[in-house]
Amino acid sequence: MTRHDSVLDLIGGTPLVGIHALSPNPDVRIWAKLEGQNPGGSSKDRIARQMVQMAEADGILTPGSGQIILEPSSGNTGIGLALVAKLRGYRLRVVLPDNVSIERRQLLQIFGAEVVASPGAEGSNGAIRRAEQLAAEDDSLVLLFQYGNPANPLAHYTTTGPEILADCPEVDVFCAGLGTSGTLMGVGRFLKEHKPDLVVVAVEPPAGELVQGLRNLDDGFVPPIFDPDVLDRKMIVRPRESIEWTRRLLSSCGVFAGISSGAAVAGAVKYAASMTSGTIVVLLPDGGWKYLSSGAWTDDLDVVEERAQRINYW
Ligand SMILES: Cc1ncc(COP(=O)(O)O)c(C=O)c1O
Repeated sequence: MTRHDSVLDLIGGTPLVGIHALSPNPDVRIWAKLEGQNPGGSSKDRIARQMVQMAEADGILTPGSGQIILEPSSGNTGIGLALVAKLRGYRLRVVLPDNVSIERRQLLQIFGAEVVASPGAEGSNGAIRRAEQLAAEDDSLVLLFQYGNPANPLAHYTTTGPEILADCPEVDVFCAGLGTSGTLMGVGRFLKEHKPDLVVVAVEPPAGELVQGLRNLDDGFVPPIFDPDVLDRKMIVRPRESIEWTRRLLSSCGVFAGISSGAAVAGAVKYAASMTSGTIVVLLPDGGWKYLSSGAWTDDLDVVEERAQRINYW
């Protein structure tokens, strides 16, 4: 297609694919944005690049310096940052709950990240607390902190949002899962500036239940980048539904995506049922590869559900 000097130039520009077969109403079209096509495998490549670029512009990071970036992420942000850090000449230390899946640990190690464990039972909030503690003890560590870094929504405001508008100018509804909220904030703001009637739909698990990669804002931590005014609707999706829709994405549409993508699609389909006609774009943050050991496509639903509460696949 094209040629590029660096793999970092391959970040973004992901395709939309029709998943209309899953729509409950033939007059409601649903397009999925396949973020698994990014070089590190997820939407988080976008924010990793933007957070490092902004820290460099602010003089917090100096390329090639070997400075250590610290981030509480077992998941996609860790992988995206490891990729960017390697190419820009930094070390990366990730704080990782000790119950993460084998694929997660392997990927982070392969990409060259150093790993610090936090208690698995405390989930991502425990990893955030541990990272803040480490940063307070050692001021040479650079904590980019995706939950509070304006570069996170900015990456989606400057790249993901414009891509969606260019590829699907008829979009009426944008639907995505809520983790740090960066995707919803950045894409939501951009699209609303161009289409004031656009509806932004956030997908969350019920309080106290775990859908890998997503959080319920009632569970005790509201990301500082979150602005409630950008959201119009919230759809609650349970862990079991996420797995069911992850399977349907593959069986009906041939799309092999991660479990939070199943959740986002479940939310989009529920919202579609309330529309008479129109167009929804739903963002699928990553591909299915990192979730193979969850058995999401192969094992009994009860077994998968139980495993997903115990092991951190995100
Ligand atoms: C797999 C997965 N799904 C969904 C999300 C949510 O995206 P955001 O952090 O932009 O809200 C994330 C990140 O937190 C993720 O890694």
